[in-house]
Amino acid sequence: MGRRLTLTVFRHNPREASSRPGTRDYVLDETPGMTLFVALGRIRDEQDPGLNFDFVCRAGVCGSCAMLINGRPGLACRTLTAALPERISLFPLPGFELIGDLSVNTGKWMRAMSERLRAWLHDAGDADPDRLEAPMEPATAEAIYELERCIECGCCVAGCGTAQMRPDFVGAVGLNKIARFHLDPRDVRSDADFYEVVGDDSGVFGCMSLLGCQDVCPKGLSLQTQIAWLRRTLARQGW
Ligand code: SF4
Ligand code: SF4
Ligand code: FES
Repeated sequence: MGRRLTLTVFRHNPREASSRPGTRDYVLDETPGMTLFVALGRIRDEQDPGLNFDFVCRAGVCGSCAMLINGRPGLACRTLTAALPERISLFPLPGFELIGDLSVNTGKWMRAMSERLRAWLHDAGDADPDRLEAPMEPATAEAIYELERCIECGCCVAGCGTAQMRPDFVGAVGLNKIARFHLDPRDVRSDADFYEVVGDDSGVFGCMSLLGCQDVCPKGLSLQTQIAWLRRTLARQGW
C-alpha cells in the first residue's frame, strides 16, 4: 500500500485585488518514482487547474522549477516525494517577485544582476568571424566550464541571509559569474574593474560566509571557494 501525501501549497495571485496569501492542502496517492513535478502536475490536472508553477526541462537544467520544499530551496523536478515525509509544504522562493502561487520571476532578477555586474565577456574588441577559434589551456577551459554549470535557479539567493536582508546583494550566483569572467583569459578587465562591480557590501564583502548558498545549490557548485577566492583577490584592490 503506497503512501497518501498531503501537499500544503502556497496560493496567491498578486494581480487579483481579492486574492489573499494563504495555503491549500491537496491529498494524493504517491506513485513509484514520483517527483514533485509529477505530483504538482497531477494536482493541476485532477484537482486545481488554476495552480501556478513553472517547469520547462524536467531534468534539472533550466532552473525554472526552484521552490521552497519543506522550507529548503530545491528543484521540484529533481526531488522525489519518497525522499520527503508524507506532509510536504511548498512555497515560492523568497527574494524574487511573485508571479503567482509557486511561480516567481527569477529571470527578471537574474537579468538585472547580470546587467549590473556586466556579466558578459569583455574581449579586446578584435573579434574576427573568419579567424580560427582561439586556443585555451584545457585546465582553464575546464575551470570555466565548471562555473558555467550554474542554471540560474535562484536557490542560492533564496537560501542566503544577506540576500534576504539586502535586496541589492548580488548573491552567490552573481559572485560565481564574476569568478567565471575573472578566470577567462579572453576577458580584458583588470582586478580593479571587477572590484568596481563587486567590491562592496552588495557584492563580495556583504557575504557572511555561512555557506547557505553552497548547501542548497542543486548543481553542487563550490560557491564558497569562489567567494573566498574573489574576496582574497579583490581585497588587495581596497588596500
Ligand atoms: S549557483 Fe547554484 S543555486 Fe545559485 S543559481 Fe546557480 S545553480 Fe542555482
Ligand atoms: S556564503 Fe555568502 S552568498 Fe552564500 S549564503 Fe552565505 S552570505 Fe549568501
Ligand atoms: S524543470 Fe528545469 S530544472 Fe526543473
